Amino acid sequence: MARRSAALTLALMTAAWLGLIAQVVLVLVLWVSGWWFVQEKLLLALPLGVAGSAAAVLVAARPMARVLRGAGVGRKPGINTALIAAALCAFAGLALRFVVGYPLSPVPAATVLVLVGLGTRLAHAVFSGQGRRLVIGLAALVGLCLVASVGFNWLTSIAGPVALAGAHSHGESDESDDSTPTASVTELRTAEDAPGPIKHFDLTAAKQQVALPSGTATSAWTFGSLPGPELRVQLGDLVEVTLHNADIPDGVTIHWHGYDVPNGEDGVAGVTQDAVLPGDSFTYRFVADETGTYWYHTHQNASDGVRRGLYGTLVVEPRGGFPEDVDLVVPVHTVGRTLLLGDSDIAAAAEVGAGDIVRLRLINTDQVPQRLRLAGTSFTVDAIDGRTIVGATPLEGAALRLPAGGRMDLVFTMPSTGALLTSDASSRPSLMIAPPGAEATLTPDTTTGDFDPLSYGTPSPTAQLPSDTGVVHATMVLDRLPRFLSGRPIQGYTVDGEVFPHIPSIEVEEGDVLELTIANRGWETHPMHIHGHHVLVLSRNGVPATGAPLWLDTFDVQPGEVWVVALVADNPGIWMDHCHNLDHAAEGMMMALSYVGVTTPFDQGGDHGNRAE
Ligand code: C2O
Ligand code: CU
Repeated sequence: MARRSAALTLALMTAAWLGLIAQVVLVLVLWVSGWWFVQEKLLLALPLGVAGSAAAVLVAARPMARVLRGAGVGRKPGINTALIAAALCAFAGLALRFVVGYPLSPVPAATVLVLVGLGTRLAHAVFSGQGRRLVIGLAALVGLCLVASVGFNWLTSIAGPVALAGAHSHGESDESDDSTPTASVTELRTAEDAPGPIKHFDLTAAKQQVALPSGTATSAWTFGSLPGPELRVQLGDLVEVTLHNADIPDGVTIHWHGYDVPNGEDGVAGVTQDAVLPGDSFTYRFVADETGTYWYHTHQNASDGVRRGLYGTLVVEPRGGFPEDVDLVVPVHTVGRTLLLGDSDIAAAAEVGAGDIVRLRLINTDQVPQRLRLAGTSFTVDAIDGRTIVGATPLEGAALRLPAGGRMDLVFTMPSTGALLTSDASSRPSLMIAPPGAEATLTPDTTTGDFDPLSYGTPSPTAQLPSDTGVVHATMVLDRLPRFLSGRPIQGYTVDGEVFPHIPSIEVEEGDVLELTIANRGWETHPMHIHGHHVLVLSRNGVPATGAPLWLDTFDVQPGEVWVVALVADNPGIWMDHCHNLDHAAEGMMMALSYVGVTTPFDQGGDHGNRAE
């Protein structure tokens, strides 16, 4: 019996040491990607693991050797306690990775240490048969410690400060802020008499039974159609859109995805306006000052609303109209389980004369990345996220991976044999673009390896960012950790260990350059979207971007990736930065980029049930 338990002890200790070695290797591997991936392991998990395992060896080695040689049983209580301590240390390492995360702050670190200490003491009391009173007292202390830390986190999640506006902007410490003029988001709007020809649209959000081309009926929420109406304007127009809510119970707003409008027109419920409730309306106004491909969607409870169909497309043409012969817009969306290319869930066709120049605007309005392919013609990726790619070279087949929310404009000359647009997500919908009478003989493109925009186009020798202003550095470390979201326990999508609305805002002043590092510690892709600004991609995983200057508003940060991007703070406001997998945003992955001095009178919840996500 004693021999068996000694052998078991030996096995456990060997496992512990092998685990430690594996952890060291892991830390070394992850270190290459950056400090954000190893901090809690290096500072606490590894030292604890080494201490625990070393203690176990010191305490257990001699008596165990005696047992294994056939001599008498050693002092078991000591061995058992040492083994429990080693196990607690290993467990603490896991908790640090899967509960605490990055950054490792003093209070959770201390809590972990106290719990390991108390647990060890408790084990010792139990194994050495110390009084029941002591055992109960220690157990109560452990319980109290756990309840207190969980309770504290729960309380702060329902009562803690909401961190949307910049810390300096609340006006509580007015005397220190006298240099900063304050502005409310309600003042950061476009004047009704702003210059430019007025292009007015009315959009009514309503529940709608939609008959898809396949014959399937689906109950959607729409802005009048599925997708919503294509809004097409020209550079210099004053765009005016009146949103009416017929009967969307949650309320609705319109956010102009990728269009860097003034903050008060940004359409985020509870941040830049109140949700528009049934029977109400709201008018958005902005000057079309950039051409390109964009889209719009509700930003009130968007994970639900956008999925159900509250989205549409926005195209800003150059003055005088688009220069190509044909201009097609294809948003990709999943409604229920059905994939839509444009408005079709089956094979569709567009007639285009042979030799015509075609611009095909692809928009991923879905929650997840979409791989799209164009077969039958070579093409250039002329623009990404509304910005033209300098020196775009022709591609012969490519897997075009669009992040959720992202856009790519393809330009090609119509071959007489046609071109076929397909998606990897489903073979049901497709778009055959072909001259009248062309035979439909094309098969989908099967090129492997994703098209990489970071090495596409011609690099620009001129500096892209102003160099004479202050550079603000900020980091967003993405992870998945158990958290409370307004009191509700969830497996949250976190930024720097917190969930919305408790993630501290990134603060800038007008004119700053913000260099933003985003690291993904999790196992899921996060399509990060920055409101109100385009960012210039500097590097991914430490490798500088080598193609044309790449200005994006949405980019996929895949598991383990680190992106460094920069933006010019030239659009004052309180701007959401979030994951455009809207389910992730709803579960915490959303925060603000706040200009010092900008305030908002709006709030989450309230009479309008505002939900910024
Ligand atoms: Cu497309 Cu914050 O959104
Ligand atoms: Cu995400």
